[in-house]
Amino acid sequence: MGKDVIIACDFSSAEQTFAFLDKFTEEKPFVKIGMELFYAEGPSIVREIKRRGHKIFLDLKLHDIPNTVKKSMAVLSKLDVDMTNLHAAGTVEMMKYALEGLTREDGTRPILIAVTQLTSTSEERMQKELLINASINDTIVKYAENAKTAGLDGVVCSPLEAGMVKEACGASFMTVTPGVRFADGDVGDQVRVTTPAKAKEIGSDYIVVGRPITAADDPVAAYRRCVEEFVD
Ligand code: C5P
Repeated sequence: MGKDVIIACDFSSAEQTFAFLDKFTEEKPFVKIGMELFYAEGPSIVREIKRRGHKIFLDLKLHDIPNTVKKSMAVLSKLDVDMTNLHAAGTVEMMKYALEGLTREDGTRPILIAVTQLTSTSEERMQKELLINASINDTIVKYAENAKTAGLDGVVCSPLEAGMVKEACGASFMTVTPGVRFADGDVGDQVRVTTPAKAKEIGSDYIVVGRPITAADDPVAAYRRCVEEFVD
């Protein structure tokens, strides 16, 4: 399992996305396509980015009854994405069904990871609104363990949670971590951030980096800096 930098392509149109990707003439970065771009452009954007030779993390965070998730995962698998995700809150059974749907006839499948608790959910809201009577960290670890039980490959989490997830689920259980900023860069709306070098030290397997690359004056240089700090 190789460490890699995934660029969050949080654009609202294919035009903007390709104008950005065209800047990369020497490398083919792993890219994340989220709900905004997918809902705007549909599956064709996935096919086109794939055709250009990029690996794709399709970040659609599925959460529905097991049968619906299984059938939807089968469709995403045919799109030939490399990684996709769902909400662990859908239960172990839903996650098992998702894996079944994702697995192709030849036995191959994209990497499947789970969202534990969204980083936008505070412990207070989780307890008061969702009636989850535990700490947020215990909830994250339990959901990660559920994902492991279901056979998933890992979870999306804050780099600062990666250590605790690895401790509970083992070193080979993947952590895919957003919230990455350069030491001398803008934090923006992210609260708990870490640098690519620190994420490497903590044990993240993949870092998801958006604005520090997409909004940089020189995105290719910013991407290379991430790779140097995190992978090399
Ligand atoms: O621009 P920035 O580097 O903050 O982008 C981070 C990406 O990771 C965005 O696509 C954001 O939606 C996603 N993400 C996150 N925190 C999570 C889950 C996903 O920032 N907990």
